[in-house]
Amino acid sequence: MKVDYNIFLIGFMGAGKSTIARVLQRKLEMPLVEMDERIVEEQGMSINDIFAQYGEDHFRDVESQLILDLGKGEPSIISCGGGVVVRDRNTAYMKQSGRIVFLTATPKTVYERVKNSNDRPILNNHMNVEYIAELMEKRRALYEAAADVTIATDDKTRDGICDEILAYLQEQKVEG
Ligand code: S3P
Repeated sequence: MKVDYNIFLIGFMGAGKSTIARVLQRKLEMPLVEMDERIVEEQGMSINDIFAQYGEDHFRDVESQLILDLGKGEPSIISCGGGVVVRDRNTAYMKQSGRIVFLTATPKTVYERVKNSNDRPILNNHMNVEYIAELMEKRRALYEAAADVTIATDDKTRDGICDEILAYLQEQKVEG
C-alpha cells in the first residue's frame, strides 16, 4: 500500500505510539520520525533537561515548530509526544498534512508500561495510576477531537493493532 500523507500516532504516554510506529514503518516502508528523539537530537539535551532548564512552555514551542516542519517534509510515520494535542494549533497542523491515529490504553496499562522509566518529566513525581487517570481524563477530549481513527491497544498484539490501522488506511483509499 502506498500512503502519500503523514500518519500521526497520538495518545497518552505509554499508549504504544513508538512501538506501533516501528512496526508500521516496516509494513509501509515509509520514513519514521520519533518526535521526542528528534527534539533531543536538535536541542542537544534530554527531554527532562529541556523541561528543567527551559520549562514546559518552551518544550511545547519546540514541539509545535517540529510538527509544522514535518508537514512540509516527505510523507512519514510520526510518533508524537503524548502532549502534542495540548496546543490546538498542533492538531490543526497535523490535520493539514495527514491522518491522525489515536492509540488508547487504560491508566493501569499505561502505568505498567511506563512505571520503570524516569525520562518523562510530566510523570516523574507522579508515577501512579490515579495521577495517570486524572491527566488522561483532562486530555481525553483533545485526543478525541484530533483523532481520525481511535484504536484501543490493551491486550492486543502489535500486529493486530497495525492491521487495524492498515485496514483504516485502506478504507480511506477506497473512499478516495
Ligand atoms: C509528554 C509525553 C512524552 C514527551 C514529554 C511530554 C506529555 O512523550 O513528549 O515527556 O506531555 O504527555 P511520550 O508520549 O512519547 O512519552
